[in-house]
Amino acid sequence: MQNAPLIDPFARAITYLRLSVTDRCDFRCTYCMSEAMQFLPRADLLTLEELDRLSSAFIALGVRKLRITGGEPLVRKGIMTLFQSLSRHLASGALEDLTLTTNGSQLARYADDLAACGVRRINVSLDTLDADKFAAITRWGKLGPVLDGIAAAQAAGMRVKINTVALKGVNEDELFTLTDWCAKAGHDLTFIEVMPMGEDMGDALRLGQYWPLTDLRARLAARYGMTELPLRTGGPARYVRLDATGQQIGFITPLTHNFCESCNRVRATCTGQLYMCLGQNDMADLRAPLRASSDDAALTAAIRAAIARKPKGHDFDYTRAPALAGAGAVKGQMPRHMSHTGG
Ligand code: 5AD
Ligand code: SF4
Repeated sequence: MQNAPLIDPFARAITYLRLSVTDRCDFRCTYCMSEAMQFLPRADLLTLEELDRLSSAFIALGVRKLRITGGEPLVRKGIMTLFQSLSRHLASGALEDLTLTTNGSQLARYADDLAACGVRRINVSLDTLDADKFAAITRWGKLGPVLDGIAAAQAAGMRVKINTVALKGVNEDELFTLTDWCAKAGHDLTFIEVMPMGEDMGDALRLGQYWPLTDLRARLAARYGMTELPLRTGGPARYVRLDATGQQIGFITPLTHNFCESCNRVRATCTGQLYMCLGQNDMADLRAPLRASSDDAALTAAIRAAIARKPKGHDFDYTRAPALAGAGAVKGQMPRHMSHTGG
C-alpha cells in the first residue's frame, strides 16, 4: 500500500523527521566542529526543491512532525522559500508541527517570516549568558544578536525552547542563572549531555567537560524542588517541573539512559542520506531515487526499505557496561559530526 504509515520492525511508528538543510554554520562550537571544518561540496547538497520533495514524501507516509536542522539552517541560502512551501502541509492538516533548531544568529531577521509560515515553536542553542564565554564556546559567535533573535522569536509569538549543552567547568556556575533567566522570560529549557560526535569530539571530553546530567539535576532539585513529569516525546528527553518556579526542564542524556524503545524518529542529512538511528552508522541514500525520477514511487520505496531496517537501538548506552569509566570510555564512538546528521 503506497500510503500505509511507516512502522519499523519493532512496531514503532515513524512520525518525526529531522531534516538537515546544510552542514554549514556561522559558529564553530568547540564540542561540535573543529575550527578548520571541511564542508561538503555544494553540488552534493539537495536543492531546496529536493528538500521539499523529500519532506513531502515522508509527510505522505505519516510523518506529523518535521524539524529543520543543520549545521545552522538559517544560513542556507533561500531557506525561507522551503519554510513557505512546507507550510502548505500545516495548512492541509497533514503536518502537525513544523519547527527548527537554530543557533539564533539570524533569528532577528527571520522570526516574523518563520511565524508567518506557521512555525509555533523554535529551539535555540544557548550554553551561556556570558558574552566572553559565548565567544569562547562558539569561537565565531556573538551573544548579543542571539539574545535579540530570541526576543524577536518571542515577540513574533513563537514558543522558545533553550537547549543548553552542559559543560563542566564552563557553564556549571551558570546553572541557576540560566534557569532563572528562562523562568523569567518564559522559555522552556533543556539540558543536553555532551555527546561523542565527530572525530574531534574527543576534545571536549578530554578537556574534562563531561558533566553528567545526574549531577546537574541533583543541584536543580536541591535548589528549586523537583517533580517528575510523565511527558514523553519519543526522544531522549525526560522532563521535570521545578517546584519553586513552575517551569518545565528537559534533560537529554544520550550516554546514560536508553531511550530507544519509544523512538519515533529518523534523520535525513542535507545530501539525502537517511540515518535510521543517531547512534548507528547504517544509512540509506535517498538522493539517487529522488534524482532518478520526478515521480515519487522510487523515493517512497527507498524510504520504506530503510525504515524496515531501523535498528532496535543505539550504541551510546553504556549503562549495561561496567560503570562509565570516565570520559575516555565514550570518546570517538561516532565518526559523524552533529552538523552532518543534524543532532
Ligand atoms: N554534544 C551535545 N550536543 C551537541 N550539539 C552539537 N554538538 C553536540 C555534542 N557533541 C547540540 C547543539 C545544539 C544541538 C543542535 O546539538 O548545541 O543544541
Ligand atoms: Fe553551529 Fe550548532 Fe554546531 Fe555550534 S553546535 S557549530 S551553532 S551547528
